Amino acid sequence: MTNFLAIETSCDETAAAVFTDELVVRSSVVASQTDLHARFGGVVPEIASRAHLRALLPVIDEALARAGVGMADIGCVAVHNTPGLVGALLVGVSAAKMLGLALGVPLVAVNHVASHIFACRMAAGRDIFPCLGLVVSGGHTALFRCDTALSLDPLGGTRDDAAGEAFDKVAAILGLGFPGGPALEREAAGGDPKAYAFPRAFLTDGRLEFSFSGLKTAVLYACHGQDVAKASPPPPGKKRADLAASFQAAVVDVLVGKCKQALRQTGLARLAVGGGVSANGRLRAGLAAMCAKEEAELFIPPLNLCTDNAAMAALAVEKWKRGEFAAADLDAEPNFI
Ligand code: KG4
Ligand code: ZN
Repeated sequence: MTNFLAIETSCDETAAAVFTDELVVRSSVVASQTDLHARFGGVVPEIASRAHLRALLPVIDEALARAGVGMADIGCVAVHNTPGLVGALLVGVSAAKMLGLALGVPLVAVNHVASHIFACRMAAGRDIFPCLGLVVSGGHTALFRCDTALSLDPLGGTRDDAAGEAFDKVAAILGLGFPGGPALEREAAGGDPKAYAFPRAFLTDGRLEFSFSGLKTAVLYACHGQDVAKASPPPPGKKRADLAASFQAAVVDVLVGKCKQALRQTGLARLAVGGGVSANGRLRAGLAAMCAKEEAELFIPPLNLCTDNAAMAALAVEKWKRGEFAAADLDAEPNFI
């Protein structure tokens, strides 16, 4: 049996996990930087990099301790090297390269977006491929045909904002704080999803593309009218809850509608969903209802595997089995490759 140590530092979560080549997760530790970024209303890349530097070694120690293993028991080091904030990724990549070298074990680099899909495989405990993959996070909103865990064939993505980014920005417009997704979902729970008829971009169009920028602007104008320059967030109450609920309903309709189209277009019978926005209860319910009608099997991980973590980097086991190791000059790649 081989133990893997995996590292995730692509955005604002410092994470490490220990798992085996049989995909048994022995520990998964996530240190969130939310408090550091909250007063800026979004992730500040330089603050993220510096916080990763401070947190990474203690997080790795904690992952090893919880797994009950030492450095000498690690047979492979895995790291997310793409996509993400370049300075943040570099911290994890540098640590992983150093550890691989020092321990004399192979290094495997994995794609963070592919890992979000693989989180479904981890949660299911069985093979889920081939499947349609939907990744909805703060940085990505994209559909993939996934014939295997390692082959993500892009079917379409967002032309502007990612769904999570739209949640965060609309939460900021409504004065709900950061991170916006969970706060907006809580606010939406008390509102009427039909109160505002917000746009559902490309929904009736056959293209598997998304756009959330116009929706965000529509919420801004519905909130403040045309006089947005001096606008301050709306007070708590029915209007704010209705705006949140109507915005959330528009995002959910689009994501569910595009998944339905993609299932029909590809003929795939399984849908695997990953990324922070898949923690959203309305989205989970909408996808479940659609998949039941379409007779497709739905895979969505539990919440701790939806948001950023290092256990999903167990995708590295697939590469390790193929002998696809990273070279000593492995670099951080901010764009999706
Ligand atoms: O996958 P993730 O943890 O990090 C990235 O790789 O981006 O996703 C973070 C995103 C944020 O935009 C956050 O607001 C959103 O996921 N999010 C949610 C919820 N929980 C997190 N969006 C909607 N509803 C939620 N419950
Ligand atoms: Zn992510």
